[in-house]
Amino acid sequence: MTRIPVQLAAGGAASPGSAGGRYEFVVGAGLLTRLGTMVHAVAPHARAALAVDESIATTHGAVAATSLRHAGYEVVEIPVRATEEDKSLASVARVYERLLAGRLERRSPVVAMGGGIVGDLAGFAAATYLRGAPLVQVPTTLLAMVDASIGGKTGVNMPLPGGGLGKNLVGAFWQPELVVADHATLGTLPARELRCGLAECVKHGMVAEPSLVDFLEEHASDILALAGPQVHELVIRSATIKARIVEADPREQGVRALLNLGHTFGHAIESFARLRLLHGEAVSIGLCAAAACSVWMGRYREDQRTRVTTLLSRLGLPTVLPEPLPIAMAVEAMGHDKKVRDGRLRLVLPTGPGRAELVEDVPQEAIEAAWRSVGAGPNGPEVPE
Ligand SMILES: NC(=O)c1ccc[n+]([C@@H]2O[C@H](COP(=O)([O-])OP(=O)(O)OC[C@H]3O[C@@H](n4cnc5c(N)ncnc54)[C@H](O)[C@@H]3O)[C@@H](O)[C@H]2O)c1
Repeated sequence: MTRIPVQLAAGGAASPGSAGGRYEFVVGAGLLTRLGTMVHAVAPHARAALAVDESIATTHGAVAATSLRHAGYEVVEIPVRATEEDKSLASVARVYERLLAGRLERRSPVVAMGGGIVGDLAGFAAATYLRGAPLVQVPTTLLAMVDASIGGKTGVNMPLPGGGLGKNLVGAFWQPELVVADHATLGTLPARELRCGLAECVKHGMVAEPSLVDFLEEHASDILALAGPQVHELVIRSATIKARIVEADPREQGVRALLNLGHTFGHAIESFARLRLLHGEAVSIGLCAAAACSVWMGRYREDQRTRVTTLLSRLGLPTVLPEPLPIAMAVEAMGHDKKVRDGRLRLVLPTGPGRAELVEDVPQEAIEAAWRSVGAGPNGPEVPE
């Protein structure tokens, strides 16, 4: 078991949700059997809620519920459906109803167990129930372990006035009291979901830690097979990067924005539902596009770009679009992203090993070249000169 302290900086210290702005991220295999004791140490109370992804409620969820009961909690189990459509205010209202029916009080912990959807949704319920209840995150996907469970962002999607779903448009910063990442739970995670988490790990390496990229290159096959101690180390290394970045910038007013590397292209790709890509897959292609964009601007070397695309591909992630998109439509789709200010595109781009920067006023030609490099345009994939 490894404990990683997360200590939020000034501003973060006053960040609501965590005792004094400090909490622990605990990583290990088989931790669920000890969950109750760990929760009790940070949020002792007669009752606890366990909001759990319904697809793991009778497996990992049952182990967690038993452990919470052994620690003395009366447990209110709340199964949650993990789809983006169900990551909604209506689902949050259903969680409130169960919390009220179960007589959960302001000091009763809400344990959010599942992937990022349950973490975000139940986290938001905890942030707002009785003006804020203690939250414990128990991530069960790799993406949630290395990314979504750390940093206090909670929230839900909203239907957009013009149709479609606006992601994470309503939410709150609400820091957990504790994060318990039992990576034995990854054994039941579909391989495609595991690979999506790996895209975020590659991103963390590109933004902050070149040795994480080396590590992923060296242990790709063991990690994909969940063999050996590498997954434990991967979660520690990748989660630590996220933790250090959010410690410095809890409310995304500066350096935390670098974690959006690949996401402006990725969100544009995700908006084309017919491509049927998961978020991590879209991010993977987005990382390749961001690297190509940076090469075009002379800020990243071609061999660095090749190294990233080769690694993503070895991890079983897509590096080009599954079907060509017209460049104009792809560029237009980027305009919907939050990184566009006054019609000008600001992009986080890789600028060296373990280094990324927010670049203002990225030229249109660089963006078009980036899209071409991942297969947009009538002529299929092209590599920038
Ligand atoms: N709060 C943040 O900072 C943050 C950061 C990144 C992403 N997110 C959010 O996270 C969500 C994506 O999270 P995700 O990728 O974890 O997806 P997810 O929650 O949809 O989980 C992926 C799939 O895996 C299943 N699952 C979860 N754990 C399992 C297990 N151990 N075994 C078998 N199946 C399991 C789920 O039922 C689901 O079908 C998005 O809504 C995104 O907006 C939030």
